[in-house]
Amino acid sequence: LFSAVELAPRDPILGLNEQFNADPNPAKVNLGVGVYFDDAGKLPLLACVKAAEQQLTDAAKPRGYLPIDGIAAYDKAVQGLVFGSFADGQAALAAGRVATVQALGGTGGLKVGADFLKKLNPGAKVLISDPSWENHRALFTNAGFPVETYAYYDAANRGLNFAGMLADLQAAAAGTIVVLHACCHNPTGYDITPSQWDEVIAVLKARGLVPFLDMAYQGFGDGIAEDGAVIRQFLAAGVESFFVATSFSKSFSLYGERVGALSVVCASKDEAARVLSQLKITIRTNYSNPPTHGAQVVATVLDTPALRAQWEDELAGMRVRIKQMRQLLADKLVAAGVKQDFSFITRQRGMFSYSGLNKAQMERLRSEFGVYGVDSGRICVAALNTRNIDGVVAAIAKVV
Ligand code: LMR
Repeated sequence: LFSAVELAPRDPILGLNEQFNADPNPAKVNLGVGVYFDDAGKLPLLACVKAAEQQLTDAAKPRGYLPIDGIAAYDKAVQGLVFGSFADGQAALAAGRVATVQALGGTGGLKVGADFLKKLNPGAKVLISDPSWENHRALFTNAGFPVETYAYYDAANRGLNFAGMLADLQAAAAGTIVVLHACCHNPTGYDITPSQWDEVIAVLKARGLVPFLDMAYQGFGDGIAEDGAVIRQFLAAGVESFFVATSFSKSFSLYGERVGALSVVCASKDEAARVLSQLKITIRTNYSNPPTHGAQVVATVLDTPALRAQWEDELAGMRVRIKQMRQLLADKLVAAGVKQDFSFITRQRGMFSYSGLNKAQMERLRSEFGVYGVDSGRICVAALNTRNIDGVVAAIAKVV
């Protein structure tokens, strides 16, 4: 049966973890996968999460099946976070225009949305940014879509090709699904400005494109409200229908709980009810219904004022530390005598820096120095700390 099965390549991001774990080099540093580590190099268990888990343990309940679309209080908390802090969002929620389902991480939200869209509009094409998170292409391809790109990164100028982005969107056929990074673009770390978003939104609207926002890093750029502001812009511009995938993997440091969501903004309450019924079929036929723990933790934190304040503080702490590491990395590269200008690292946002290093340099970083980043040149700044940064800088200085 399996004699013709080909060996698939390793996943470009998660496959690096396997390689990293097998590397005996005691000085190895994992800057591959997008995971935040604290200054001691430890994966944090947030105090707000620990407190919520304690509350849940103290009032431990049996675990029945969840509803197909997840815990109602969790879906409501997600809606509050994504849409609830501004008037247009509150109006959309009050009008019942938003269908939200609990999903297995942000990836799960993307997949449920992709499967639903494939049934809805089987002939559509998907556009992702050039470059984008490696799994965007793979996920939408596996959902059956042809996947192409819109211009985004300008390698020569270490910035954005905004004119190219607009031109590509303008040329897209009506109904094309456009995957957009709500904040902290993965992998480049370059976001478009609010006024550029207005221009993008105007084109999406005029061309009848289907926006699918991936919001995996809310709170890692400038703040929770600031990073989520693009949602307000979509609603304020009168975009009737769009998708938002949410992830709490990073912002709650709950990677292994697979806790995320998909929200679909619809034109009316009636439409939202019909969309929700279809999302539920997608979920039921994939994994039946979601797991309990992570969503309960997130809902408890978001709905308990003291825990929510604690979460916002802890998230701010992660954001500030990443920014410090960006500055330190740029400064130390200069101090190490690297002539190439790396000051762009401090202008990028979120967990990643698109370093500009090529595949051969990234391979050399891995094989000679035990410094693991993605072949595209992406490094996870959130995994740098005051102990490992000198080794990383010395290694980069050697390969450039
Ligand atoms: C990443 O880009 O490293 C993260 O989003 C983790 C993943 O699933 O790839």
